[in-house]
Amino acid sequence: MSPSSTDLIAHPYTPPPGFEAPQPGVHKASTVFFKNVAALRARDWKHRHGYTYGLLGTPTTFLLEERIATLEGGRHCLLLPSGLAALANVSLALLSTGDEVLIPDNAYGPLKAMAEGELAQWGITHQFYNPQDPADLQRRIGPGTRLVWLEAPGSVTMEFPPLPQLAAVCRARGITTALDNTWGAGLAFNGFEQGADIVVQALTKYPSGGGDVLMGSVVTREEALHLKLALCHMRLGWGVGGNDAEAVLRSLPSLHLRYRAQDAAARELARWLAARAELAQVLHPALDGSPGHAHWRAVCGERGLAAGLFSIVFQPRYSPEQVDAFCDALRLFRIGHSWGGPTSLVVPYKVPAMRSAAVAVWPHAGTLVRLSVGLEEVADLRADLEQALGALTG
Ligand SMILES: Cc1ncc(COP(=O)(O)O)c(C=O)c1O
Repeated sequence: MSPSSTDLIAHPYTPPPGFEAPQPGVHKASTVFFKNVAALRARDWKHRHGYTYGLLGTPTTFLLEERIATLEGGRHCLLLPSGLAALANVSLALLSTGDEVLIPDNAYGPLKAMAEGELAQWGITHQFYNPQDPADLQRRIGPGTRLVWLEAPGSVTMEFPPLPQLAAVCRARGITTALDNTWGAGLAFNGFEQGADIVVQALTKYPSGGGDVLMGSVVTREEALHLKLALCHMRLGWGVGGNDAEAVLRSLPSLHLRYRAQDAAARELARWLAARAELAQVLHPALDGSPGHAHWRAVCGERGLAAGLFSIVFQPRYSPEQVDAFCDALRLFRIGHSWGGPTSLVVPYKVPAMRSAAVAVWPHAGTLVRLSVGLEEVADLRADLEQALGALTG
């Protein structure tokens, strides 16, 4: 079950005596005072019933942790300075020299780069697997496999995987699974109910919603797993600032409305684009005919939610330069990374260079462009796309 907007707005919070207002207070600290040396010595960083040092939490970050745990349907949450740092927290806490990690071939690129760079340098091996094929994952699991990453849908190419089947393969072998749930934002589906042990989100996207905050979360249900992650989090000095935590707390009450609005606008644009002759395919998990659409229906529901993010593949007759000209011609869609904010964004990708030859062959010859739909009027966005499609030939 996904949390309702009410769960996030009427969420437990004890305001200071004599003061109640819609938003919680903001507390900022590096130093935290103790009333005596005995109190300082007695503080235990592991538990959230007191404060030790700003890096280990303030009332503001503890409150945000509780709300993100509610959002994901988990019990424990750690906050990190970016979504990528959250992915690193899981990898570094759970993997040692000689271990292997398996990553979907269509995963968020910097996670693959982390495996090829830092993890490899520390003697941790990796394999990329085909997330559409649980048998491929099963085949790649070996005696050293300690962690399997899941992501739904794949970054950029948007294939929705058979999540419960992938998680079941790992569960049967006793392997921990971590899901990057940034696309689902805790709303489209519950990652734990799909079988994940750890659910990570780049709060940078929908929970922040402003395109102005970088933050990540790592949510778990099991205490022992949380403590393992929290120990690494503490030792590596990952924390978030009070102002950034406050910005996310302020945006959370509108998360459901923004997500639904961006979903509806993206679907409208995706359907309109699907009929355009310039395009070979529209990749949107909620659209019939998109790779993994049946898996999206099974996980998110027949009338389920989807993020406001999709990709289009141009007909191969258009050169990459012509597709760049299309992107340059857009006025409301700005060229820039990330998604989930108010401004619509566009980025062209060279997909073959992002795929591992050992896994699957990308079936398209045309150039892919990812569109992130913001909160502008849909009619204006459609007009913008229409005029930019004119630049392809002009
Ligand atoms: C799926 C996914 N996961 C994680 C991240 C990393 O988030 P951040 O930009 O906060 O490091 C991103 C960022 O684009 C993403 O798209």
